[in-house]
Amino acid sequence: MSVSPKVILRKNLGRALRQGHPWIFRDALVEAPAIRSGTVVVVAGRDGRTLAHGYWDCTGPIAVRVLDPHPVGDARALVCDRLRLALAKRLARLDRGKTNAFRWVHGEGDRLPGIHVDLYDCVAVVRFDGAGARAFYRDLDGMLAECSAPLTLSRFVDREQRGGNLGEIEVRENGVRFIVDLGRGQKGGLFLDQRENRQAVAGRAAGKSVLNLYGYTGGFSLYAAAAGATHTDTVDIARPALATARRNFQLNGLSLEHAGFHATDALAFLDQAARREKRWDIVISDPPSFAPSRLALPKARSAYFRLHCLAATVVAPDGLLCAASCSSHFPRDEFLASVERGAASAGRGFRLESVSGAGFDHPVLPAFPEGDYLKFAIGRVV
Ligand SMILES: C[S@@+](CC[C@H](N)C(=O)[O-])C[C@H]1O[C@@H](n2cnc3c(N)ncnc32)[C@H](O)[C@@H]1O
Repeated sequence: MSVSPKVILRKNLGRALRQGHPWIFRDALVEAPAIRSGTVVVVAGRDGRTLAHGYWDCTGPIAVRVLDPHPVGDARALVCDRLRLALAKRLARLDRGKTNAFRWVHGEGDRLPGIHVDLYDCVAVVRFDGAGARAFYRDLDGMLAECSAPLTLSRFVDREQRGGNLGEIEVRENGVRFIVDLGRGQKGGLFLDQRENRQAVAGRAAGKSVLNLYGYTGGFSLYAAAAGATHTDTVDIARPALATARRNFQLNGLSLEHAGFHATDALAFLDQAARREKRWDIVISDPPSFAPSRLALPKARSAYFRLHCLAATVVAPDGLLCAASCSSHFPRDEFLASVERGAASAGRGFRLESVSGAGFDHPVLPAFPEGDYLKFAIGRVV
């Protein structure tokens, strides 16, 4: 049996590792040994005591992604066990007749650090976080095929190698039908993390007018229209996404007469709507991350504030504002304060009714707050 190389910590990360934090940054190590990406390593403290086992990445800022406190032994068997467990957890909660698009593997949250696997019916769309993950999970397609029972996979798509025409498939989410462009769709196809939030909005949409800002292929609008919304307006800057949104309405047998599609910048749309004194009963705001890094936070804060102010302005009296942020660098408290302050600067009050995150198929480890990226607040605007 080969002996795994050892890396020594310069920083005292013992507590974080014992609690289950899965990342070790390169600057936390005494030195970076010359080993190949994907190699399983033993992580030890300065005193030589073993703290964790993980795999090595030569290139990215995260040098080791932790797999287990115990020796890994047969890495393929460990990965396969975790793949099967992750799938069983999803299938136990999802009604496959209604939902056949979901996240099978949410990386660190499923103790399979460095990979994300989304299932679109029989197609697995895979993302590797760097060279270490690509090397460690080098037979991922084979392992997924082996662990997919009772499902059968027909295709594997690597998110990094997407682009161009890989074809479209149709999937269902809570009974709502979606066209997914495998080659060009954003985030691998759909924003699966919002499934449960789309359902929460649907539960409140009957008889209401709905504005869906950053609407992509119409997710929130489709759910709302199917639940009996009187009118939906979907705004997105990406024309192809909106064209798919329109097709999704048709696919679901929903009237286009009561659906508007606006290919424009959301803030410009809101500015104009506010000037024309337009109002909607429910306004949803699900922008791309304004803070992809910590450095971007100051600019992001003012962008979120402006968005929340304008979005609150166009909510009808006693209507709902449903605001999301998918930036892990923008903490939950700050996000909620931004929604409240935004509404206040529009002369409105925001009475929070619920806050949620990503769907259950995007699990978050308690010791890994970096994984808790999505916030979704629903509140009444008075
Ligand atoms: C997080 S996704 C929204 C997902 C969507 N809510 C859903 O449920 O599928 C963000 C969307 O914002 C769009 N977008 C990015 N910048 C924009 C802008 N300035 N104005 C309007 N839409 C924008 C992107 O094209 C993308 O579809």
